[in-house]
Amino acid sequence: MAGISFLDEHRIWVLTGDSGTYALRLGEDDAPIHLYWGPALSDADVVELAGKTLPWWDGFNDPDEGLGELAADGGTRYWTPALQVRFADGTRALEWRYEDHKITGGHLRIRFADRHYPLRITLHYRLRGAVLERWTELSADVDVEVVRADSATWALPVFEDYRLSHVTGRWAAETQLRRTPAPHGETVFASRRGITSHHANPWVMVDDGTATERHGEVYGVALAWSGSWRLTTTRSSTGRLTVSGGFGQDGVVHRVGPGTPLTTPVSAGLYTGGGFGAASRAWHTYVRAHVLPHPEELRPVLYNSWEATGFDVTEGGQRALAERAAALRAELFVLDDGWFGARTGDHAGLGDWHVNRERFPDGLKPLAGAVHGLGMRFGLWVEPEMVNPDSDLYRTHPDWVLHHPHRRRSQLRRQLVLNFARPDVAAWAHDWLDRLVGEHGIDFLKWDMNRPFSEAGWPGEDDQDRLWVEHTRAVYALLDRLRADHPGLRIEACAGGGGRIDLGVLARTDQVWTSDNTDALDRLRIQHGYGQLYPAGAMAAWVTDNPNFVTARSVPLRFRFHVAMAGVLGLGGDIVRWSAEDLALAHELVALYKDIRPVVQHGALYRLRPPVDDGLVAFQYVHGDRVVVFAFRQAAHFNAPERPLRLEGVDSAHRYLDPDSGHTHRGAVLLAHGLPLGLPTGDFSSAVVQLQQKI
Ligand code: DGJ
Repeated sequence: MAGISFLDEHRIWVLTGDSGTYALRLGEDDAPIHLYWGPALSDADVVELAGKTLPWWDGFNDPDEGLGELAADGGTRYWTPALQVRFADGTRALEWRYEDHKITGGHLRIRFADRHYPLRITLHYRLRGAVLERWTELSADVDVEVVRADSATWALPVFEDYRLSHVTGRWAAETQLRRTPAPHGETVFASRRGITSHHANPWVMVDDGTATERHGEVYGVALAWSGSWRLTTTRSSTGRLTVSGGFGQDGVVHRVGPGTPLTTPVSAGLYTGGGFGAASRAWHTYVRAHVLPHPEELRPVLYNSWEATGFDVTEGGQRALAERAAALRAELFVLDDGWFGARTGDHAGLGDWHVNRERFPDGLKPLAGAVHGLGMRFGLWVEPEMVNPDSDLYRTHPDWVLHHPHRRRSQLRRQLVLNFARPDVAAWAHDWLDRLVGEHGIDFLKWDMNRPFSEAGWPGEDDQDRLWVEHTRAVYALLDRLRADHPGLRIEACAGGGGRIDLGVLARTDQVWTSDNTDALDRLRIQHGYGQLYPAGAMAAWVTDNPNFVTARSVPLRFRFHVAMAGVLGLGGDIVRWSAEDLALAHELVALYKDIRPVVQHGALYRLRPPVDDGLVAFQYVHGDRVVVFAFRQAAHFNAPERPLRLEGVDSAHRYLDPDSGHTHRGAVLLAHGLPLGLPTGDFSSAVVQLQQKI
């Protein structure tokens, strides 16, 4: 049943993927109209449903209000516009004319043109397992201003009520899950910062207010874009809700014309009937199967020197850390900020990408060689899109930064943003990065980006607005090119922690730095929000020192490890100063992590107890016949007896062996009654329990 069909007589397309059906039709005026999104239906079901769709009409509404497949501005369409164009003669209204369509495997392209003006619009649909990807392509033979070009409008079924799930945050407090009734009117989730942002993340999930972790219908929409973006939910009194989204922001106009087509990023949509847990698992499967470049590779345990040394980087200090990291069986050593130019603090040096010879007298090669000699890969921090005004690069090319001629150049973290939309800037960045990676045998780059855009101008350029899109595209192109030319290179995306986490960057990197906040308790919440959409196998998580540098909280080492072991484990503390006891525990837990790593990084996530208070937080990963349960209790109150933890995703007909305790549990009992956790008494107790299915 999975696949795409066109029902000629009815002018209906039906797309059925792994978790449901999506359908659209052509209206009498040729406009593409949404028909259905939800549980799987046959073609015949969809035809019957099309006949039963009652248009809403009261003289003040468009009959298809809220159902425009890509809600275009013009005529009697009053819904939130997803496509707004302005032709040279001032005409704003778009009128659709259907041209043709093509189905290639799971990819449907439907071509339209404007009825009068030489503007062509192609709507793309691609089935990717449980996810439907959509995007829009515009081309024109004359210059057309495109005020808004969303990737897609997604119309939901009419529910009694609607609820939105999304994440908000800020630096060191990213991806905090929010669930809220959907307001009537328009609700905008957006970044105007030129990056994905810490403050919101480009996805939203919608249910009717009754879905739970395990039950209920959930619809999700996510955008694969790392620049400014906006997602708008529109809820009308006619009972409809749509989600429309794409790149760009208010006031930024795209110009489409001869030789300058516009292709939007992918907007991915997912329907599931299995609650929020099933929705997250389906997103994770999609990211692993269709987004990440090397999903099958197990991510290495890394050591990163940032929290240990800050900017006080020396070759001797790094060597000492590398030796300790190797002794703890880390597999990748990453030298963070401070190795180049005059970068002895955040005030200078960004842009001068030559090794600081006072700190590394013979360059980086001796350190890289030593790290390789210790059996680890060598990684390096870079921040290619940035420049400190106090740098040779800025003194030579002050015009390379985003700026307006008569405006101040606002500094954040004492730096300015290079305009990667400029071909000369992008070429310069490629040149030094390519050389750096090639000459030093660098295995891993941590690509950072530590401030948003401001004064985003490009003096002298006719179409300055295009930098908003072209900057991100140039970053993507550079990442793609580096990967192609250095196939062994792996990349971590970072923007002051989790400021650049999205499906677009995950398509060209291997993992993301989730947050600069490594406090284990805060991380439980941040990781909970992150995991709603993105998989643990791309979520970098370090164990750092007490007290935590963001929160000043001290947490037992085992608890810190257990939290970080729920993602891609990294060590980020000053391990040269760790006690023998801590080192022994770290050694043991790194070994345990390597054992459970395939389950964590490739397994299915089941959230059992969300982090809502200081009580039990628990989740599990299931991969093949292996199960790993993580449990955390921040505070023990009133000597309360421990209750067994009911598991999910295990087979009721099988038995499961806990190799550590030697106990065997019946699957049915784990599901119906639960697993005795045996958490140590007292505050900050945690456990990682492995279960192995028995034949
Ligand atoms: C921000 C990152 O998130 C940190 O991990 C570190 O790399 C600093 N930048 C270095 O300046």
